[in-house]
Amino acid sequence: MTAQAQIKASFPVRRMDFEFNEVPKYWFADDPFLTHFLSSLSSLFPEGEFFFVTSMRNVRDQIDDPVLQKEISAFIGQEAMHSKEHKVFNDYATAHGIDLDSFHSRVGKLLKFGHKILSHKQQVAVTCALEHFTATIAAQLMKRTDWNEQMNDPVMRKMWLWHAVEESEHKSVTYDVYQKLYKDYPTRAGAMIAAWSILAVVLADQQVRLMAKDGQLLNGKSWAKGMWSLFGYKGFLTELTLPLLDYFRPGFHPEDHDSEALEKKYKEMLSFQG
Ligand SMILES: [Fe+2]
Ligand SMILES: [Fe+2]
Repeated sequence: MTAQAQIKASFPVRRMDFEFNEVPKYWFADDPFLTHFLSSLSSLFPEGEFFFVTSMRNVRDQIDDPVLQKEISAFIGQEAMHSKEHKVFNDYATAHGIDLDSFHSRVGKLLKFGHKILSHKQQVAVTCALEHFTATIAAQLMKRTDWNEQMNDPVMRKMWLWHAVEESEHKSVTYDVYQKLYKDYPTRAGAMIAAWSILAVVLADQQVRLMAKDGQLLNGKSWAKGMWSLFGYKGFLTELTLPLLDYFRPGFHPEDHDSEALEKKYKEMLSFQG
């Protein structure tokens, strides 16, 4: 075995195969708003993660560090598996009247346009920004047991926690690639502002569409509960503000946000070996 072949990534690629047949319509807190919010996020993953993977494939031949090469391969493996499982769920939801597939194609078109107009460097910068978003949300989902315990379907809870563990495990890969190749702060910060602004608009738009399609647009109780849970005191997104903004710090590195204990806890809970 060559020395190169002996190098291993710091995290594994786990093969998953979830069955969503028993997932209830409102699988989060029996609530339309919050269920649709998370399903809306799920609708973004297949195309979004394909964008991340492509941005890495575009530049990986410029990386001569064999350890980082292994990390990139494992990153691609994990993201491909996330895309696959979220796509299966999204198709299941679509078949049951929660149309997530139409969002795929819209987001797919948007990201294809991104591939066309952005340089490789800008694509990696957008990927880094969105990877910080997913890593921050992942850590929050693991930390906030009061949130993840509201997933009232065991398959959905397992899928989201598996995804959260792996987003934490690979949170530094794209950032390390960006720093190794470019180290350009203005592009990194600018990509963050652009990516998050677009993401906020897409999520708001999708939330209204899902609530309307489900006949819940005037369900004031669900809107109030959902908005407070996300943006109120100790809201799920409110608490993300500082860790997200930390990305603007010039010396920022994803590992500054230690999530090892959370990863360990949920790997044990989910009976993952590695
Ligand atoms: Fe992912
Ligand atoms: Fe990721």
